[in-house]
Amino acid sequence: MTSRRLVLTQSAALIGATSTGLLLPAIARAQGNKVRVGLMLPYTGTYAQLGVAIENGFRMAIDEQGGKLGGREIEYFKVDDESDPSKAIENANKLVQRDKVDVLVGTVHSGVQMGIQKVARESGVLSLIPNAGVEAATRALCAPNVFRTSFTNSQPTLALGKVLMDRGHKKAVWITWKYAAGDEAFGGFKESYTKAGGTIVKELGLPFPNVEFQALLTEIAALKPDAVACFFAGGGAVKFMKDYAAAGLKGKIPLYGSGFLTEGVLDAAGPAADGIMTTLHYSDSLNTPRNHSFRLAYAKAFRSQPDVYAVQGYDTGLLLVHGANAVKGDLASKPAFYKAMETATIDSPRGKWTMSKAHNPVQDIYLRVVENRENKVLGVAAKALSDSGAGCKMV
Ligand code: PHB
Repeated sequence: MTSRRLVLTQSAALIGATSTGLLLPAIARAQGNKVRVGLMLPYTGTYAQLGVAIENGFRMAIDEQGGKLGGREIEYFKVDDESDPSKAIENANKLVQRDKVDVLVGTVHSGVQMGIQKVARESGVLSLIPNAGVEAATRALCAPNVFRTSFTNSQPTLALGKVLMDRGHKKAVWITWKYAAGDEAFGGFKESYTKAGGTIVKELGLPFPNVEFQALLTEIAALKPDAVACFFAGGGAVKFMKDYAAAGLKGKIPLYGSGFLTEGVLDAAGPAADGIMTTLHYSDSLNTPRNHSFRLAYAKAFRSQPDVYAVQGYDTGLLLVHGANAVKGDLASKPAFYKAMETATIDSPRGKWTMSKAHNPVQDIYLRVVENRENKVLGVAAKALSDSGAGCKMV
Protein backbone atom coordinates (compact mmCIF):
# COMPACT_ATOMS: atom_id res chain seq x y z
CA MET A 1 0.00 0.00 0.00
CA THR A 2 2.70 2.45 1.08
CA SER A 3 4.86 1.64 -1.88
CA ARG A 4 1.94 2.07 -4.30
CA ARG A 5 1.17 5.52 -2.89
CA LEU A 6 4.84 6.44 -3.25
CA VAL A 7 4.84 5.40 -6.88
CA LEU A 8 1.71 7.41 -7.55
CA THR A 9 3.14 10.49 -5.83
CA GLN A 10 6.34 10.17 -7.80
CA SER A 11 4.58 9.92 -11.12
CA ALA A 12 2.36 12.87 -10.24
CA ALA A 13 5.48 14.87 -9.48
CA LEU A 14 7.02 13.77 -12.74
CA ILE A 15 3.98 14.78 -14.75
CA GLY A 16 3.97 18.10 -12.91
CA ALA A 17 7.60 18.73 -13.76
CA THR A 18 7.15 17.82 -17.39
CA SER A 19 4.15 20.05 -17.88
CA THR A 20 5.85 22.95 -16.13
CA GLY A 21 8.84 22.34 -18.38
CA LEU A 22 6.64 22.48 -21.43
CA LEU A 23 5.01 25.68 -20.29
CA LEU A 24 8.33 27.42 -19.61
CA PRO A 25 9.31 29.78 -22.40
CA ALA A 26 12.43 28.64 -24.27
CA ILE A 27 14.38 31.63 -23.03
CA ALA A 28 13.80 30.79 -19.34
CA ARG A 29 14.78 27.17 -19.94
CA ALA A 30 17.96 28.33 -21.66
CA GLN A 31 18.74 30.65 -18.76
CA GLY A 32 18.42 27.78 -16.32
CA ASN A 33 21.43 26.00 -17.83
CA LYS A 34 24.97 27.12 -17.39
CA VAL A 35 26.76 28.64 -20.39
CA ARG A 36 29.57 26.28 -21.32
CA VAL A 37 32.71 28.31 -22.12
CA GLY A 38 35.76 26.55 -23.57
CA LEU A 39 39.20 28.09 -23.21
CA MET A 40 41.75 26.72 -25.68
CA LEU A 41 45.01 28.52 -24.97
CA PRO A 42 48.74 27.81 -24.55
CA TYR A 43 49.54 27.15 -20.90
CA THR A 44 52.97 25.65 -21.61
CA GLY A 45 55.80 26.62 -23.99
CA THR A 46 57.06 29.98 -25.26
CA TYR A 47 53.50 31.47 -25.36
CA ALA A 48 52.39 30.17 -21.92
CA GLN A 49 52.29 33.60 -20.26
CA LEU A 50 50.20 34.95 -23.16
CA GLY A 51 47.56 32.30 -22.52
CA VAL A 52 47.43 33.11 -18.82
CA ALA A 53 47.07 36.86 -19.47
CA ILE A 54 44.23 36.23 -21.93
CA GLU A 55 42.38 34.02 -19.46
CA ASN A 56 42.87 36.58 -16.66
CA GLY A 57 41.49 39.38 -18.82
CA PHE A 58 38.54 37.30 -19.99
CA ARG A 59 37.59 36.29 -16.44
CA MET A 60 37.92 39.87 -15.27
CA ALA A 61 35.31 41.07 -17.80
CA ILE A 62 32.95 38.26 -16.73
CA ASP A 63 33.56 38.91 -13.03
CA GLU A 64 32.56 42.54 -13.58
CA GLN A 65 29.14 41.08 -14.49
CA GLY A 66 28.91 39.12 -11.23
CA GLY A 67 30.43 36.10 -12.97
CA LYS A 68 27.41 35.70 -15.27
CA LEU A 69 26.64 35.91 -18.98
CA GLY A 70 23.27 37.40 -19.84
CA GLY A 71 22.11 36.38 -16.35
CA ARG A 72 23.34 32.78 -16.65
CA GLU A 73 26.00 31.02 -14.61
CA ILE A 74 29.12 29.84 -16.47
CA GLU A 75 30.95 26.54 -16.53
CA TYR A 76 34.53 26.67 -17.81
CA PHE A 77 36.36 23.95 -19.75
CA LYS A 78 40.09 24.29 -20.41
CA VAL A 79 42.56 22.77 -22.86
CA ASP A 80 46.31 23.52 -23.10
CA ASP A 81 46.93 23.75 -26.86
CA GLU A 82 50.75 23.92 -26.36
CA SER A 83 50.93 26.18 -29.46
CA ASP A 84 51.11 22.92 -31.40
CA PRO A 85 49.27 23.06 -34.76
CA SER A 86 49.45 19.27 -35.18
CA LYS A 87 47.15 18.79 -32.16
CA ALA A 88 44.82 21.72 -32.90
CA ILE A 89 41.85 19.92 -34.45
CA GLU A 90 41.87 17.20 -31.82
CA ASN A 91 42.08 19.79 -29.03
CA ALA A 92 39.28 21.94 -30.46
CA ASN A 93 37.10 18.84 -30.78
CA LYS A 94 37.67 17.99 -27.11
CA LEU A 95 35.86 21.22 -26.30
CA VAL A 96 33.27 21.14 -29.08
CA GLN A 97 32.32 17.46 -29.20
CA ARG A 98 33.24 16.09 -25.77
CA ASP A 99 32.46 19.13 -23.59
CA LYS A 100 29.75 20.56 -25.86
CA VAL A 101 30.81 24.16 -25.26
CA ASP A 102 28.55 27.03 -26.37
CA VAL A 103 31.54 29.22 -27.13
CA LEU A 104 35.20 28.43 -27.82
CA VAL A 105 37.65 31.16 -26.78
CA GLY A 106 41.08 30.64 -28.40
CA THR A 107 43.87 30.95 -29.28
CA VAL A 108 47.32 32.59 -29.47
CA HIS A 109 49.21 30.76 -32.26
CA SER A 110 48.14 31.33 -35.89
CA GLY A 111 48.82 27.72 -36.94
CA VAL A 112 46.68 26.36 -34.11
CA GLN A 113 43.98 28.89 -35.03
CA MET A 114 43.68 27.31 -38.46
CA GLY A 115 42.64 24.06 -36.76
CA ILE A 116 40.09 25.87 -34.60
CA GLN A 117 38.78 27.66 -37.70
CA LYS A 118 38.14 24.34 -39.42
CA VAL A 119 36.27 22.97 -36.40
CA ALA A 120 34.31 26.22 -35.99
CA ARG A 121 33.26 26.30 -39.64
CA GLU A 122 32.20 22.64 -39.63
CA SER A 123 30.41 22.61 -36.26
CA GLY A 124 29.00 26.16 -36.32
CA VAL A 125 30.11 26.70 -32.71
CA LEU A 126 30.80 30.32 -31.77
CA SER A 127 34.55 30.98 -31.97
CA LEU A 128 36.11 34.06 -30.37
CA ILE A 129 39.76 34.69 -31.28
CA PRO A 130 41.55 36.56 -28.47
CA ASN A 131 44.95 36.81 -30.18
CA ALA A 132 46.03 34.73 -33.21
CA GLY A 133 46.34 37.09 -36.16
CA VAL A 134 46.22 34.66 -39.08
CA GLU A 135 44.66 36.62 -41.91
CA ALA A 136 42.59 33.78 -43.39
CA ALA A 137 40.36 33.69 -40.28
CA THR A 138 38.84 37.04 -41.23
CA ARG A 139 39.55 36.91 -44.97
CA ALA A 140 38.93 33.92 -47.27
CA LEU A 141 37.92 31.59 -44.41
CA CYS A 142 35.77 34.11 -42.52
CA ALA A 143 32.53 32.83 -41.00
CA PRO A 144 29.41 34.28 -39.33
CA ASN A 145 30.24 32.40 -36.10
CA VAL A 146 33.89 33.56 -35.92
CA PHE A 147 34.81 36.91 -34.31
CA ARG A 148 38.31 38.24 -33.63
CA THR A 149 38.99 40.74 -30.84
CA SER A 150 42.71 41.18 -31.48
CA PHE A 151 44.28 42.04 -34.89
CA THR A 152 45.46 40.57 -38.17
CA ASN A 153 49.21 39.90 -38.25
CA SER A 154 49.81 42.66 -40.80
CA GLN A 155 47.83 45.34 -38.92
CA PRO A 156 50.59 46.46 -36.49
CA THR A 157 53.37 46.31 -39.10
CA LEU A 158 51.39 48.26 -41.70
CA ALA A 159 52.14 51.19 -39.40
CA LEU A 160 55.83 50.34 -38.91
CA GLY A 161 57.49 51.00 -42.30
CA LYS A 162 56.90 54.75 -42.29
CA VAL A 163 58.26 55.02 -38.75
CA LEU A 164 61.64 53.64 -39.88
CA MET A 165 61.78 55.92 -42.93
CA ASP A 166 60.77 58.99 -40.88
CA ARG A 167 63.75 58.20 -38.66
CA GLY A 168 66.09 58.00 -41.64
CA HIS A 169 66.56 54.23 -41.85
CA LYS A 170 66.64 53.52 -45.58
CA LYS A 171 67.93 49.93 -45.48
CA ALA A 172 66.50 47.33 -43.13
CA VAL A 173 66.82 43.66 -42.30
CA TRP A 174 63.70 41.72 -41.31
CA ILE A 175 63.93 38.76 -38.92
CA THR A 176 61.21 36.44 -37.55
CA TRP A 177 59.96 32.98 -36.72
CA LYS A 178 58.95 31.39 -40.01
CA TYR A 179 55.25 30.67 -39.69
CA ALA A 180 52.03 32.53 -40.54
CA ALA A 181 52.38 35.18 -37.80
CA GLY A 182 55.93 36.17 -38.81
CA ASP A 183 55.31 35.88 -42.54
CA GLU A 184 52.15 37.99 -42.46
CA ALA A 185 53.76 40.55 -40.14
CA PHE A 186 56.51 40.78 -42.77
CA GLY A 187 53.82 41.37 -45.42
CA GLY A 188 52.59 44.45 -43.55
CA PHE A 189 56.13 45.71 -42.96
CA LYS A 190 57.20 45.18 -46.57
CA GLU A 191 54.14 47.00 -47.91
CA SER A 192 54.53 50.03 -45.64
CA TYR A 193 58.34 50.25 -45.77
CA THR A 194 58.78 49.94 -49.51
CA LYS A 195 55.86 52.34 -50.09
CA ALA A 196 57.69 54.89 -47.94
CA GLY A 197 60.86 54.36 -50.03
CA GLY A 198 62.77 51.85 -47.88
CA THR A 199 64.76 48.83 -49.08
CA ILE A 200 64.69 45.45 -47.38
CA VAL A 201 68.21 44.11 -47.75
CA LYS A 202 67.55 40.67 -46.27
CA GLU A 203 64.73 38.59 -44.85
CA LEU A 204 65.95 36.24 -42.10
CA GLY A 205 64.05 33.52 -40.29
CA LEU A 206 64.13 30.44 -38.07
CA PRO A 207 61.48 27.86 -37.24
CA PHE A 208 59.02 28.48 -34.35
CA PRO A 209 59.80 28.28 -31.40
CA ASN A 210 63.56 27.98 -32.03
CA VAL A 211 65.74 30.54 -30.18
CA GLU A 212 69.20 29.80 -31.61
CA PHE A 213 69.71 33.38 -32.84
CA GLN A 214 73.53 33.52 -32.87
CA ALA A 215 74.25 32.78 -36.55
CA LEU A 216 71.53 35.20 -37.67
CA LEU A 217 72.85 37.98 -35.42
CA THR A 218 76.32 37.47 -36.88
CA GLU A 219 74.80 37.84 -40.35
CA ILE A 220 73.05 41.08 -39.32
CA ALA A 221 76.33 42.48 -38.00
CA ALA A 222 77.97 41.71 -41.36
CA LEU A 223 75.10 43.22 -43.39
CA LYS A 224 75.25 46.52 -41.42
CA PRO A 225 71.68 47.69 -42.21
CA ASP A 226 70.38 51.05 -40.92
CA ALA A 227 67.84 49.19 -38.76
CA VAL A 228 66.36 45.78 -37.95
CA ALA A 229 62.63 45.03 -37.78
CA CYS A 230 61.16 41.82 -36.40
CA PHE A 231 58.29 39.70 -35.13
CA PHE A 232 58.87 37.67 -31.95
CA ALA A 233 56.71 37.24 -28.85
CA GLY A 234 56.63 35.67 -25.40
CA GLY A 235 59.65 33.80 -24.04
CA GLY A 236 61.40 33.86 -27.42
CA ALA A 237 61.15 37.66 -27.57
CA VAL A 238 63.02 37.99 -24.26
CA LYS A 239 65.82 35.79 -25.54
CA PHE A 240 66.00 37.69 -28.83
CA MET A 241 66.29 41.12 -27.20
CA LYS A 242 68.93 39.86 -24.74
CA ASP A 243 70.95 38.11 -27.45
CA TYR A 244 70.72 41.22 -29.68
CA ALA A 245 72.23 43.32 -26.88
CA ALA A 246 74.82 40.67 -25.93
CA ALA A 247 75.96 40.46 -29.58
CA GLY A 248 76.84 44.17 -29.35
CA LEU A 249 74.18 45.25 -31.87
CA LYS A 250 72.12 47.35 -29.45
CA GLY A 251 73.09 51.01 -29.76
CA LYS A 252 74.66 50.32 -33.17
CA ILE A 253 71.73 49.09 -35.27
CA PRO A 254 68.35 50.22 -33.87
CA LEU A 255 65.80 47.44 -33.31
CA TYR A 256 62.11 47.85 -34.22
CA GLY A 257 59.25 45.42 -34.07
CA SER A 258 55.64 44.46 -34.28
CA GLY A 259 54.72 45.51 -30.74
CA PHE A 260 54.35 41.98 -29.39
CA LEU A 261 58.15 41.98 -29.05
CA THR A 262 57.92 44.10 -25.90
CA GLU A 263 54.60 42.86 -24.42
CA GLY A 264 54.58 41.10 -21.05
CA VAL A 265 58.34 40.62 -21.13
CA LEU A 266 59.87 43.90 -19.97
CA ASP A 267 60.79 42.72 -16.46
CA ALA A 268 62.45 39.63 -17.88
CA ALA A 269 64.27 41.53 -20.65
CA GLY A 270 65.51 44.36 -18.39
CA PRO A 271 67.78 47.02 -19.97
CA ALA A 272 68.10 44.97 -23.21
CA ALA A 273 64.64 46.29 -24.17
CA ASP A 274 65.31 49.99 -23.47
CA GLY A 275 64.75 52.26 -26.46
CA ILE A 276 63.13 49.64 -28.70
CA MET A 277 60.36 51.18 -30.81
CA THR A 278 57.32 49.21 -31.87
CA THR A 279 53.82 49.64 -33.29
CA LEU A 280 50.76 48.02 -31.71
CA HIS A 281 47.08 48.54 -30.91
CA TYR A 282 47.78 49.08 -27.20
CA SER A 283 50.25 50.81 -24.92
CA ASP A 284 50.65 50.53 -21.14
CA SER A 285 50.86 54.29 -20.80
CA LEU A 286 47.68 55.31 -22.67
CA ASN A 287 46.53 58.23 -20.60
CA THR A 288 42.77 57.58 -20.44
CA PRO A 289 40.53 56.95 -17.43
CA ARG A 290 39.47 53.66 -19.04
CA ASN A 291 43.05 52.38 -19.26
CA HIS A 292 43.94 53.61 -15.76
CA SER A 293 40.98 51.90 -14.11
CA PHE A 294 41.58 48.68 -16.08
CA ARG A 295 45.26 48.55 -15.13
CA LEU A 296 44.51 49.20 -11.47
CA ALA A 297 41.78 46.54 -11.26
CA TYR A 298 43.89 43.98 -13.15
CA ALA A 299 46.95 44.56 -10.94
CA LYS A 300 44.78 44.19 -7.83
CA ALA A 301 43.12 40.99 -9.05
CA PHE A 302 46.15 39.19 -10.48
CA ARG A 303 49.16 40.86 -8.76
CA SER A 304 50.82 41.47 -12.12
CA GLN A 305 50.81 44.19 -14.76
CA PRO A 306 48.43 43.74 -17.71
CA ASP A 307 49.71 43.71 -21.30
CA VAL A 308 48.12 43.61 -24.75
CA TYR A 309 47.13 39.95 -24.26
CA ALA A 310 45.28 40.77 -21.04
CA VAL A 311 43.48 43.57 -22.89
CA GLN A 312 42.51 41.26 -25.75
CA GLY A 313 41.18 38.65 -23.28
CA TYR A 314 39.25 41.36 -21.48
CA ASP A 315 37.77 42.67 -24.73
CA THR A 316 36.76 39.11 -25.68
CA GLY A 317 34.80 39.01 -22.43
CA LEU A 318 33.29 42.47 -23.11
CA LEU A 319 32.17 41.39 -26.59
CA LEU A 320 30.58 38.18 -25.32
CA VAL A 321 28.85 40.00 -22.45
CA HIS A 322 27.49 42.57 -24.90
CA GLY A 323 26.08 39.86 -27.17
CA ALA A 324 24.70 37.72 -24.34
CA ASN A 325 22.98 40.69 -22.68
CA ALA A 326 21.32 41.65 -25.97
CA VAL A 327 19.58 38.24 -26.09
CA LYS A 328 19.13 37.97 -22.29
CA GLY A 329 21.28 34.86 -22.13
CA ASP A 330 19.47 33.00 -24.90
CA LEU A 331 22.61 32.25 -26.94
CA ALA A 332 20.60 29.99 -29.25
CA SER A 333 19.03 33.15 -30.74
CA LYS A 334 21.98 33.35 -33.08
CA PRO A 335 20.87 36.05 -35.55
CA ALA A 336 20.20 38.58 -32.75
CA PHE A 337 23.21 37.41 -30.71
CA TYR A 338 25.66 37.75 -33.63
CA LYS A 339 24.10 41.00 -34.85
CA ALA A 340 24.70 42.54 -31.42
CA MET A 341 28.38 41.54 -31.53
CA GLU A 342 28.78 42.74 -35.12
CA THR A 343 27.47 46.20 -34.28
CA ALA A 344 29.13 46.58 -30.86
CA THR A 345 31.46 49.40 -29.98
CA ILE A 346 33.90 47.95 -27.48
CA ASP A 347 34.98 50.45 -24.85
CA SER A 348 38.44 48.92 -24.45
CA PRO A 349 41.51 49.98 -22.45
CA ARG A 350 43.16 50.28 -25.92
CA GLY A 351 40.53 52.86 -26.98
CA LYS A 352 37.10 52.32 -28.51
CA TRP A 353 36.95 49.89 -31.44
CA THR A 354 34.34 48.38 -33.74
CA MET A 355 34.07 45.20 -35.83
CA SER A 356 34.83 45.22 -39.55
CA LYS A 357 32.41 43.40 -41.85
CA ALA A 358 34.78 40.42 -41.74
CA HIS A 359 34.69 40.43 -37.87
CA ASN A 360 38.11 41.93 -37.15
CA PRO A 361 38.80 45.07 -35.03
CA VAL A 362 38.96 48.48 -36.67
CA GLN A 363 41.45 50.18 -34.37
CA ASP A 364 44.19 52.73 -33.82
CA ILE A 365 47.81 51.57 -33.97
CA TYR A 366 50.18 53.34 -31.58
CA LEU A 367 53.90 54.08 -31.83
CA ARG A 368 55.58 53.14 -28.57
CA VAL A 369 59.07 53.12 -27.06
CA VAL A 370 60.35 51.08 -24.11
CA GLU A 371 61.37 53.23 -21.16
CA ASN A 372 61.90 51.99 -17.60
CA ARG A 373 60.22 48.65 -18.25
CA GLU A 374 57.13 50.28 -19.75
CA ASN A 375 55.80 50.74 -23.28
CA LYS A 376 55.41 54.51 -23.50
CA VAL A 377 53.07 55.82 -26.16
CA LEU A 378 54.58 58.36 -28.56
CA GLY A 379 51.53 58.88 -30.75
CA VAL A 380 49.04 57.29 -33.13
CA ALA A 381 50.88 55.68 -36.08
CA ALA A 382 47.68 54.67 -37.94
CA LYS A 383 44.17 55.87 -37.18
CA ALA A 384 41.16 53.47 -37.28
CA LEU A 385 43.10 50.87 -39.25
CA SER A 386 40.94 48.15 -40.79
CA ASP A 387 42.16 44.88 -42.29
CA SER A 388 41.18 44.48 -45.95
CA GLY A 389 39.07 41.38 -45.25
CA ALA A 390 39.97 40.34 -48.81
CA GLY A 391 38.00 37.31 -50.02
CA CYS A 392 35.60 37.22 -47.06
CA LYS A 393 32.11 36.06 -47.97
CA MET A 394 29.78 35.55 -45.02
CA VAL A 395 27.61 32.58 -45.85
C1 PHB B 1 50.19 34.41 -33.82
O1 PHB B 1 50.68 33.27 -33.94
O2 PHB B 1 49.25 34.80 -34.53
C2 PHB B 1 50.72 35.33 -32.79
C3 PHB B 1 51.36 34.83 -31.65
C4 PHB B 1 51.84 35.71 -30.69
C5 PHB B 1 51.66 37.07 -30.85
C6 PHB B 1 51.03 37.58 -31.98
C7 PHB B 1 50.56 36.70 -32.95
O3 PHB B 1 52.12 37.90 -29.93
